[in-house]
Amino acid sequence: MNVSYESKIDISFENIFSFIKNSGSNKKVIFIDPIVLANNPIFLEIETNDHNLFLIPTNIYENTKEIESVISILKILEDKGIGRRNDMIYAIGGGALLDTVSLATSIFRRGIFIIKVPTTLLGIVDAAIGIKTGVNFEGQRNRVGSYHFDFKVVIDPFLLKGVNPGLIRQGLGEIFKIAVIKSNKLFEKLEDCSRELEITKFYSDPRGLEIINNSIELMLEELHDNPRETVLKRCVDFGHSFCPLVEMESIKRPGIKTIPHGYAVAYDCLLTSKISYIRKLLSEKDFLKIYNLYNKFDFNFENEIYQDINLLWASFLELTKHRGGSQNLPVPTAVGKYTFLQDLKFEELETANTLIQKSLRK
Ligand SMILES: NC(=O)c1ccc[n+]([C@@H]2O[C@H](COP(=O)([O-])OP(=O)(O)OC[C@H]3O[C@@H](n4cnc5c(N)ncnc54)[C@H](O)[C@@H]3O)[C@@H](O)[C@H]2O)c1
Repeated sequence: MNVSYESKIDISFENIFSFIKNSGSNKKVIFIDPIVLANNPIFLEIETNDHNLFLIPTNIYENTKEIESVISILKILEDKGIGRRNDMIYAIGGGALLDTVSLATSIFRRGIFIIKVPTTLLGIVDAAIGIKTGVNFEGQRNRVGSYHFDFKVVIDPFLLKGVNPGLIRQGLGEIFKIAVIKSNKLFEKLEDCSRELEITKFYSDPRGLEIINNSIELMLEELHDNPRETVLKRCVDFGHSFCPLVEMESIKRPGIKTIPHGYAVAYDCLLTSKISYIRKLLSEKDFLKIYNLYNKFDFNFENEIYQDINLLWASFLELTKHRGGSQNLPVPTAVGKYTFLQDLKFEELETANTLIQKSLRK
């Protein structure tokens, strides 16, 4: 598949090892997740055979997706003497690593090219294909970042090996989001293969690849005409309204399990669907389809923070600010169709959240 926006971005499915070996660049600096490296010792072989290739095991996840990590990456780029044009930077890992390394490359020498190689399902269908880079800052998700257009994405589904079902489910959170809001067809495919979707090998077989392709295409349809988000009414914001602060708080608050991004997105989708159902914008039949698939995927992640209605509302107010002062809340009106709300009230959110919490606890 070759998709482009702003005329130069491309995504390809290929074997990453041949890609690196055949790359004609001068120096190659590869920031790689240590788990991915441990599962694929062939990277070490490639390094041994290429004295211009530097493997940098880089452990970045949500807690370390911080400005300090960007500075460490910038120091490595400087230390290796990376130039503006003929050298190649790779980021091989999950969404947090890709976001952080991309941010560093977007500001090093005012922007250098990067190859993004996602190794989680969420990275494949979402984090890698966007142009947004970013790190968390002062307790806000992705508060510091940039738009970086100079990249290529290489997707090699074999790198998913070693990913556990929990991590696969996180990717399914974003796929669930795009299906509910934009595509009944994809939603039905998810229902059909719901049993196999947690098996990593499934994504190297044609049906798994089709789900990946569909999700990417649906995301790109939205990004294509609005890459810098100049239009603030975006259906892909579905699932990203009430839970961003919940997610951040779950990292900070002692004694609480961290809520992974994909789970938070899925919960946000369910809650928003409930709001739509209570307003009679979404039929009971469609709400139940969404609710049942949510449960089939076992997105339920019991965490008392979901009951903190003030935090959910604060998150929504923050997002409203981010959307230029308008709520622009995408809500499903059927599976695959949506509208935007501009007048959600605190009490409505509270009612919907109480009902969802009650039904999930049953
Ligand atoms: N830029 C964007 O447009 C965009 C879009 C969506 C999400 N994101 C970001 O993506 C991040 C979430 O990404 P994620 O779900 O990939 O999680 P992650 O990047 O936090 O990675 C989770 C864990 O998976 C491990 N891991 C990575 N690949 C592995 C593999 N093949 N086998 C075993 N373990 C592996 C990592 O070591 C890490 O501990 C969030 O920070 C989110 O903000 C960005």
